[in-house]
Amino acid sequence: MSRRSRSGLPGADGPNTGHHQPGTGRAAAGLLLALATALPAQADPALARARNCLTCHALEGKVIGPGFREVARRYAGQADAADKLAVKIVKGGAGSWGVVQMPANPQVSEAEARRLALWILGR
Ligand code: HEC
Repeated sequence: MSRRSRSGLPGADGPNTGHHQPGTGRAAAGLLLALATALPAQADPALARARNCLTCHALEGKVIGPGFREVARRYAGQADAADKLAVKIVKGGAGSWGVVQMPANPQVSEAEARRLALWILGR
C-alpha cells in the first residue's frame, strides 16, 4: 500500500580495502534506486491532473467527489482496496459517498487506474 521504504544505503561505511573498487558502482546503483522510488511521487499528482480527476476531487475535502485523504482513511487497512478502487476509477459508479455518480473514465488505462488508486490510498 504505502511506498516501499528503503532504509538508508548500507555499506557506505563498510571496510573498503580499496585495491580497484572504490565503490562507485554501488553508489550509482543506490542513486538509481532512489530516483526510481522518488519519481512516482512526482508523477501521480500530474497524472491525476492530466486525467481530469482533480476537476471533481481535491486531496482534502469534498468537491463533487470525496477528498482523496478521506478515501484513503475509509479504506485504510483493506487489502483489496486498490483493486476495487482501480475498477471504480475506470467504470465510475455511485453509492459509496452519496448519490452523485462518478462517470466512467475510459481515458484511464487499467495500469493508470491502479497507480492512481495506490497513490490515493497513500494520501
Ligand atoms: C465528474 C466528476 C468526477 C471525476 C472527473 C472523477 N471523479 Fe472520482 N468520484 C466522483 C464522485 C461523485 C464520487 C463518489 C461516488 C460514490 O459515491 O460512489 C467519486 C469517487 C471516487 C473514488 C472513491 C470510490 C469509492 O467507491 O469509494 C475514487 C478513488 C475516485 N473517485 C477517484 C477518481 C480518479 C482517480 C479520477 C480520475 C481518473 C476521478 N475520480 C474522476 C466524481 C468524479
